[in-house]
Amino acid sequence: MTPFDIDGYRNRWQPEIDAALEKTLDELASEPGCPDELCRTMKYAVMGGGKRLRPLLCLAAAGACGAEEKSALMAGCAVEFVHSYSLVHDDLPAMDDDDFRRGQPSCHKAFGEAMAILAGDALLTHAFQILALGVPPHVSAQAVALLAAAAGPVGMVGGQVDDVGNAPVGSASDVEFIHERKTAALMTAAVKLGGLVAQAPRQQMEALGSFGQKLGLAFQIADDLLALEGDEERLGRPAGSDQIQERRTHPLLAGPEASRQRAQELVQQAVALLKPFGDAAAVLSGIAALVEMRIRPAG
Ligand code: IPE
Ligand code: IPE
Ligand code: MG
Ligand code: MG
Repeated sequence: MTPFDIDGYRNRWQPEIDAALEKTLDELASEPGCPDELCRTMKYAVMGGGKRLRPLLCLAAAGACGAEEKSALMAGCAVEFVHSYSLVHDDLPAMDDDDFRRGQPSCHKAFGEAMAILAGDALLTHAFQILALGVPPHVSAQAVALLAAAAGPVGMVGGQVDDVGNAPVGSASDVEFIHERKTAALMTAAVKLGGLVAQAPRQQMEALGSFGQKLGLAFQIADDLLALEGDEERLGRPAGSDQIQERRTHPLLAGPEASRQRAQELVQQAVALLKPFGDAAAVLSGIAALVEMRIRPAG
């Protein structure tokens, strides 16, 4: 599948994803218990741009396993809520201390730290409500457990702790272990939730899981590489915070060229895992190609 086709898929589904996210937040806002300021902060955190990569992966995985994409829409939204919360907390002064996100003031800059922390909490908890109610009842417990494991102490939060903390990082593979949890775990959950909704057999679920791990890792390496190289256009935001804070990223440890090669190799491995799905996985491999395109040398 060419990147042109994937653009078409994106144009088809991104508005539906955005509409579903917004509708969910508007429904919350209409409930008397939800404070206006909290609703506004949540909406700001979720609706201010974003590539919606995780919901797209979720829909594409459901499609690859023979289900209607729409059946995975709420699962995809749940992952996007968890992702959005993670970005709000990631930008806080106690963490990466970033003043901008998606080209706008970060959530705590716009609404204050207390509200940003609470909006993050609310997005995380609300994600599980819409997931539990938004997938077929016979897979709902499994779906909730899957997302909780990916987002929690052995997944994204564990990776974030080691990223901001003092986990010993002597080599690129140490950094990969952090990124497998802080970034790849949630992408893996996105594709596996798509598979779960489609009632995919065990082998397909395992292939989707490995695909998500490899793609997620490649995505984080690519993101750090673009930040290091100051490629703000492809990065989609101001670069520089990684170097300023001397964060331990793959390209800083392995060097930009080795890093680029590693990300490309991971994308190839990810795409190879899709072989058993045949043409049904064209969208998933198209999304993988997009990640690779971000770091393809110009020219
Ligand atoms: C940013 O993720 C954080 C990382 C895991 C590197 P995205 O690049 O998917 O963020 P948005 O949602 O499109 O802004
Ligand atoms: C983003 O990680 C947060 C998570 C992956 C949970 P980074 O700190 O590396 O990404 P940016 O640079 O803030 O988007
Ligand atoms: Mg961070
Ligand atoms: Mg950050």
